[in-house]
Amino acid sequence: MSFSELLEAACTKINPTPESLQNVAAGFEEAMRAGLAGRPSSLPMLPSYIARPTGAERGEALAVDFGGTNVRILNVRLEDGKVRPGESVRFSLKDPDGAYDFTRAETRAEELFDHIAGQIANLAAGASAPLPLGHTFSFPCRQEGINRAVLLFWTKEFRTSGVEGKDVTALLSEALERRGVRNVRPRAIINDTVGTLLAAAYLYRGVEIGSICGTGHNTCYLEPRHPLTGKPMIVNMESGSFDGVVLTTFDRAVDEASSRPGEQLIEKQVSGAYLGEVVLAALRAAAAEGLLPGGPRDWERGTLSGIDLARVLEDEPGCAGARSVAGDRLSLPGLTEQQLAALRKLTESVVGRSAWLVGATYAGILRYLDPGLRQNHVIAVDGSLYEKMPGYQAGIRAGLEAILGAGARGVETRLVKDGSGIGAAIAALVAEGQE
Ligand code: BGC
Repeated sequence: MSFSELLEAACTKINPTPESLQNVAAGFEEAMRAGLAGRPSSLPMLPSYIARPTGAERGEALAVDFGGTNVRILNVRLEDGKVRPGESVRFSLKDPDGAYDFTRAETRAEELFDHIAGQIANLAAGASAPLPLGHTFSFPCRQEGINRAVLLFWTKEFRTSGVEGKDVTALLSEALERRGVRNVRPRAIINDTVGTLLAAAYLYRGVEIGSICGTGHNTCYLEPRHPLTGKPMIVNMESGSFDGVVLTTFDRAVDEASSRPGEQLIEKQVSGAYLGEVVLAALRAAAAEGLLPGGPRDWERGTLSGIDLARVLEDEPGCAGARSVAGDRLSLPGLTEQQLAALRKLTESVVGRSAWLVGATYAGILRYLDPGLRQNHVIAVDGSLYEKMPGYQAGIRAGLEAILGAGARGVETRLVKDGSGIGAAIAALVAEGQE
């Protein structure tokens, strides 16, 4: 077998069949029902204690958007159903030159939140009146109220000590206190999917599903009658933990090398933090068979980013994108055009499977909400994969159509940028309004 043949065989293993997509949609719908009813399920179906905004919310709030290594703080004003973003800062929790890294296990919770509080202090310095603060914290949390969320466990390869099992609002409030910030009051803490849904519902009405397809993956929806309250409530499904998709040998290798083996299984098949790892796993299989042109290589985790995969998929003559990624990132210069085409095809399979699987989970949610698919539905989506990865939006559509057939006609997925930040501000103002 040649290098190209092995990659082609890997594609066959990775590409989902129509039948497997149907199984994913049906399994997802069943896992939703089980999770909501408190039966064993890979979907924790976490309550958010917030429903859809009315559109009448108004005022000024600060939003913290913390869902990955880049954190953003922004000032948002809501007025007459319009969102007016003001000043903002963006900063990284990891210094590119290695001077600090707040995501490592050696960093303590206090150091992480002191860093964030310092940035909040700078942005809030000029505020005349106390500002409510909404915090989008995009990790699985046991939500115990609109302003209380206990981190269950880190995802996306975060490892900071002393945050798991803690109330994240308390950690932030204590840091603000240590820093002497008195003109900011944390009011709400939400997941980024919830923020996306809140922002979309505030701007467009009628939206009932919010999703993130970026470094991580997750979806929330508006449960019409939540078992806790009997009223509408947004449920953060933590759908990245769904375990109903068959794993290939490559997925197993990615899972074993991750910080939480056995957890977040579909997230490791679909999200930006892991897609490059799946491609690398297939390339390592070629290396193990002695098929890698130019002899074995050892690639570190993170060698192929989502941006690299997007470059491989760019439609350029002679697979120019694939050639530069092979040379610069994989130390595989001099691949033949056939070998580059095989690398591109492998990337297409890994990225395409991600989009189809996400489409299949959306189909499961839609069938749960509207079994006869009688109404139109809008799914608000944010995230780098959805926004920027070539072919991704079309892949989700293809997944939806493969499962719902003509029923997919009334379903629209719509990019809602910055929803997680704007949604945090909306949540803060909703919480103030509830007082
Ligand atoms: C987290 C979710 C989050 C998603 C998208 C996942 O790793 O567990 O809470 O919504 O990433 O950021």
